Formats: sequence, C-alpha cells, structure tokens
Amino acid sequence: MRLVSVLIARAREYSCGTDLLPFGTTRTVSTQPPSSSPPPSPGGPGAAGPSPSGTGESAGSRSGSASDSLVARLIVERGLAPQTEVDAAIAALRANAGQGRAFSDILVDAQIVTRRQLARLRNEAESDKTVLRIPGFQMIRKLGAGAMASVYLAKQVSLDRLVAVKVLPKQFSADQNFIERFYREGQAAAKLSDPNIVGALELGRVGEQHYFVMEYVDGDTVYDRIVAAKRMKDRDALQIVRQIASALKHAHAAGFIHRDIKPKNIMITRSGVVKLADLGLARAMSDKKTAEAERHKAFGTPYYISPEQVRGAVDLGPPADIYGLGATFYHMLTGRVPFEGRDPTEVMRHHLESPLTPPDQIVSGISQSTAEIVEMMMAKKAKDRYQSAQELMDDLDLALAAQPLRYASREADISALASQVEGTAETEVAEAPRSSGRASSLHLALIIGLSALSAALLIIILLIRK
Ligand SMILES: Nc1ncnc2c1ncn2[C@@H]1O[C@H](COP(=O)(O)OP(=O)(O)OP(=O)(O)O)[C@@H](O)[C@H]1O
Ligand SMILES: [Mg+2]
Repeated sequence: MRLVSVLIARAREYSCGTDLLPFGTTRTVSTQPPSSSPPPSPGGPGAAGPSPSGTGESAGSRSGSASDSLVARLIVERGLAPQTEVDAAIAALRANAGQGRAFSDILVDAQIVTRRQLARLRNEAESDKTVLRIPGFQMIRKLGAGAMASVYLAKQVSLDRLVAVKVLPKQFSADQNFIERFYREGQAAAKLSDPNIVGALELGRVGEQHYFVMEYVDGDTVYDRIVAAKRMKDRDALQIVRQIASALKHAHAAGFIHRDIKPKNIMITRSGVVKLADLGLARAMSDKKTAEAERHKAFGTPYYISPEQVRGAVDLGPPADIYGLGATFYHMLTGRVPFEGRDPTEVMRHHLESPLTPPDQIVSGISQSTAEIVEMMMAKKAKDRYQSAQELMDDLDLALAAQPLRYASREADISALASQVEGTAETEVAEAPRSSGRASSLHLALIIGLSALSAALLIIILLIRK
C-alpha cells in the first residue's frame, strides 16, 4: 500500500500527458548538427531481445518479459520516473505474480505513465530490438548513434562480459575497398593495447552488415561533459588531454594516425580513466569517398580537422592528430569550437587561413601556459606544432606542475604566425588580422598610439598659437 502511494505521489510530479521526445533528442547540442541517422534496419529474421538477468544493466532486466525490461529502461531514460520507482513497480509485479496483472497495468495504475505513453514506449522498445542478431552476443540496448553508425551495449556470452558493438550501415558493404581497409585497419587496431585506448575486440559481418565489437566504456564522452558544464576547468582539461596524448603516443608508435580526434571520440569511465575511441575505424571511414563520407565530415569533423587533412594530404603524421586534439582542447576550455562557419567548407577554410583567437582571450581564467600549449597544438603548419605526442606530454606535465614550458611559448607562436604570413597570399594576409584576437589588439594599440600622438600635437600647436 505504501509502495502504491509513493508511486502515485511521484507520478504526480511528472506530467503524464506530455508527448515523449524522439530518441536521441537530448544529445543534440549547438556546436554540431544533430545526427539524423536512423537506427539500423533488421539485418535478418528475428531480433535479439534484451539481456536476461545478470547483466547488471537495468532494473528492467529483472522484470517480467524482455519487452517489459526495455519499457522499464525507457521510462527511466525518458525521465518519466526514477529508477527506484520503476524498481518498486517491478517489485509490485512480482508480488502480484499469478494474479494476472500485467506490468503495463501496474505502471498505469500507479500513474507512472499514461496508456498513450506506454503505447509509444512499446513501439520504441520494439524498434530498439530490431538490432542485428550477432552470434555469441546478446544485444542489450542502444548506447548512442553518430552520423555513420549506431552503437549498442551487448553481452559477449562466452566470456560473460559487456561490450560495445558498432553496427555499420549497409551502404559500406557495397565498396570492396572500404571493406578491405576496414578489416585491415581493425585487425591492426586490435593489436594495440593501451589503458587509454578503447580496445578493439572483433570485426564481423552478419548478412550485409558489418559490425565492430569493442571494449565497453561505462561512462560518458568529453562531448557530453562539454554540453553539461559548458566548459571545463583548466586542470581537468589538461588531465584529459594528457591521457589522450599518451594514447596517441602508443598509437603513433604502432604506425596509426587516428585522423578523427574530437570530443565525441574521447570517453571517460566512471573512475576517471580517459579512453580514445574509434581507432582504426576512423581511418577506414575517412577513406570512404562517398556521399556518406561527405555527410560524416559535415557532421562534426570539420571543427577539429587539421589544415593538412583539409588539403587532402596523404602522408599525415602525428602533428595531424595533435592539431585535432588541440581543437578538442580548445573546445573543452572555452566551450566553443575554434572556428565556426555557415557550412563545413567555411569552417575548413578557417582552419587553413584564419588566425586562432587565443583561448585565454575568450575565457579569462585560462592560464597562459595552457593557452600556449593549445596554440602550439593548433599551429597552421605541421612543423610549428609539437612533433610528437611525447613532446606534448612533456609540456602538459610541466603545465600541470606549474613549471615553465619546454616547447610552447608566445614567442614561438609569433614566429609561427610570421611563417604563416610568409606563405600566405597578400590578399589573405590583408584579411586575416580582422578575425585575429591578437592581431586586432595590435591594431588597436597602434590606433590608440596614433590618436594620442595627434592629440599631443594638437595641444602643442594650440599652446604655441597662444
Ligand atoms: N566503446 C564504447 N562504449 C560505450 N559507449 C560507446 C562506445 N563507443 C561509442 N559509444 C557511444 O555511442 C555513441 C555513438 O558513437 P559513434 O562512434 O557511432 O559516433 P560519434 O563518435 O558519437 O559521432 P560521429 O558519428 O560524428 O563520429 C557515442 O557518442 C557514445 O555515447
Ligand atoms: Mg565515435
């Protein structure tokens, strides 16, 4: 009886008449257009249901049917009721076992959801189950979706462990070159073993669909954190970037260039371990010269892309990833991407031509050494950046210890700016300072100086005339 009144009281706090948001709406943010990719269509007959008990995933998994389990999870995810109340409803279901009361009746009677909402939730639960059935894996729930693929939480039955499965769209299977590269890169990525890299576990194919099994990261992405907190504190950002620099050192030593370093590809576990995701996959995907690849670029990558990647350079080295990490660092510290534009082309043109507004001019609390590191990471020319992840780590460690930096300095930055000016067409040079924070400051100082001089001359002339 007490349980039912708690449920009713809690249910009253929520407006049960409101429509549910579409799947994924809460992940939409201003800096990147929302993903519009639909969940993968069923790859074959039947679909995997949610995990039975023992996955530790949700209270719903301890409820009656698989469908009830998914509905229970969706209620919590949608914020219609907290986990404790759904657990209470499940307990009520158990207590009523044998009396023929359905889980949906209990939920509606307790005013947790309306019948209409329940119908929608059941539809969603059904579409969520139309996931690829992969032998040896039990699909549990969708973790998220990017512009190119959807990622699911699954249980690898043989090893009784949770994994993340990325299901690639069917279009990829049409391009033999892509498939070959995808497998080659995936196999190589699987040989990498580093605490700061999301482990690649398996590549496979079911019907026409390819999938990629990887270590499950129980946590969130840097992107989620930027969205939640607007921007990060200096020290937090330094520590995250330090761990990714260590991941890059390992990957680069093994001959990998990631090419798609961005907040969404950096995950943080609940215990604070930072992990770089999509290694191997990013490279394979970035080589797909199709409309999908174009779309992928438009959906986020241009904000963090290095100038040499914009130019289409084929011999990318570690500085390309260091630039991407620098752009990510910039976003973490300021809450803004380094360059914005009306379309991907304009953003990429800025990466090529426009001077960077120093991060400490945007947020006053950013230390000079942190700003200097970001600026060196994002130098236009690869030769002006850190040449290796180790060099970057050295400076990050010094910044964390509040010691003078070894590589980055504003003087070095000025010479980088000068070398950039040398190599830039005259018209572009004339245009550049307008959008540069530092260059604008110089102009301002010059104008103020000249004005002061004119005023002084005027006063002298007036005095002489008197
Ligand atoms: N190994 C993992 N463990 C847990 N969650 C993951 C894992 N990999 C991805 N995810 C989740 O799935 C979401 C989608 O990942 P995916 O790599 O498909 O796209 P993305 O990197 O977010 O975006 P984009 O398509 O622009 O590259 C991520 O944002 C993250 O929330
Ligand atoms: Mg990703």
